[in-house]
Amino acid sequence: MQIPGRIRISDILKSTETGKEFTVKGWVRTMRANKNVAFVALNDGSTINNLQLVIDVAGGFSEELLKQITTGSCLKAEGLLVESKGSGQPVEIQVKNIELYGTADTQTYPLQKKGHSLEFLREIAHLRPRTNTFGAVLRIRHAMAFAIHKYFNDNGFYYLHTPLITASDAEGAGAMFQVTTLKIEELIKSETKNIDYSQDFFGKYTSLTVSGQLEGELGALALSQIYTFGPTFRAENSNTPRHLAEFWMIEPEMAFYEIKENMDLAEDFIKYLVKYALDHCVDDLAFLNKMWDKELLERLQSVVNTDFVRLDYTEGVEILERSGVKFEYPVYWGADLQAEHERYLVERHFKRPVILTNYPKEIKAFYMKQNDDGKTVRAMDVLFPAIGEIIGGSQREENLDKLQTRINELNIPTKDLWWYLDTRRFGTAPHSGFGLGFERLLLFVTGMSNIRDVIPFPRTPKNADF
Ligand code: 4AD
Ligand code: MG
Repeated sequence: MQIPGRIRISDILKSTETGKEFTVKGWVRTMRANKNVAFVALNDGSTINNLQLVIDVAGGFSEELLKQITTGSCLKAEGLLVESKGSGQPVEIQVKNIELYGTADTQTYPLQKKGHSLEFLREIAHLRPRTNTFGAVLRIRHAMAFAIHKYFNDNGFYYLHTPLITASDAEGAGAMFQVTTLKIEELIKSETKNIDYSQDFFGKYTSLTVSGQLEGELGALALSQIYTFGPTFRAENSNTPRHLAEFWMIEPEMAFYEIKENMDLAEDFIKYLVKYALDHCVDDLAFLNKMWDKELLERLQSVVNTDFVRLDYTEGVEILERSGVKFEYPVYWGADLQAEHERYLVERHFKRPVILTNYPKEIKAFYMKQNDDGKTVRAMDVLFPAIGEIIGGSQREENLDKLQTRINELNIPTKDLWWYLDTRRFGTAPHSGFGLGFERLLLFVTGMSNIRDVIPFPRTPKNADF
């Protein structure tokens, strides 16, 4: 279907139909004029590139109208497509008619000038999509979401919608946000000692999910290969450039996959996504490479072309211990690796992505498949340059007794988990899966360095303004 009433700027810039009339609509990025002619750079978000409008000042446009065409204003323009005499663009529009939709006061429009800091743009998150940088990031974000669905659809996975509200907090992946319709103010006033959650909306204590995995496993043990792709919520107070309180996660879950096939899938999946970005987001990546990160394109290309290192946690810890580096957090067998350790392995030791496996069971979730050594589980974390952990996953423990024993050791209440354990009671099967943090992927693909800059409206501690 054609877009009603206009042609997209991305399309008109590729058009060879000079001499024909077109209608375009968009927001003014810049306007410069002399006595005879005005040049407007127009952008409609379909591409990083602007369309040049050439306005003959003596061409019957009122002075009042021309004055109102300022940075940030929105307009419709009709005119003739001609080859551009300027060097910046292949074609331009010789404007015949202009309709101004919305003005933007030059004194108060916050994006009047170019070159704002990313910190400042976070404070005007409602307007930052109109900048070159955020236009590029948001288009790449879309392309990656689309590519994720395409990859799984092409490979025989079903998209499973897992609930955002959950009564189980057994995943243990992070602190949870409570969901309730109980009136907290009234409970405080009545000095209630024990809150009766049977009176709450769902008749029990509920929270926002930290992961769709447990429900994903139910799907995999019926449809064989599923994936989830939705928002997840973690109430940790971690104010870092890599953590959000609300982030999107992709979680494939596969029956009949063991840890090796799980690693193969994770590696193939990430390489596909990076290659997709290189093939489909050429202009936006070139812009980000020029503006923010001169090594971006090279780094993306190198990930597509190199095999990931596969290494036992134990060997990883030995390398870190031998490194002689003084880390902020001490490293020893049994320690939960920090970003600084992960990045040392990836960026300094191996100089390529690393998949670490067979972690100590104490630092991993209850559902991971136990190894025969009694000490480690079949976990796998994929570690990336500049990011650290981008994927966390594992083969799952499919044996009911072993799983139950681990649950008891960890004192996890099973009353809300009976449905999960039923998968091990009825037709259990070896299975595996992982979770890719969508924004962590986008940090890597865009080269941005703060996770707040790869999601339109970031949710972090003390920040839910926009
Ligand atoms: O390692 P995590 O906690 O794994 C799980 O939640 C498993 N249930 C996944 C599975 O096996 N199906 O989280 C998975 C990924 C991390 O590797 C990271 O990329 C991302 O989710 N992530 C976050 N991204 C942004 N902000 C946060 N607070 C994140 N916490 C995890
Ligand atoms: Mg993890």
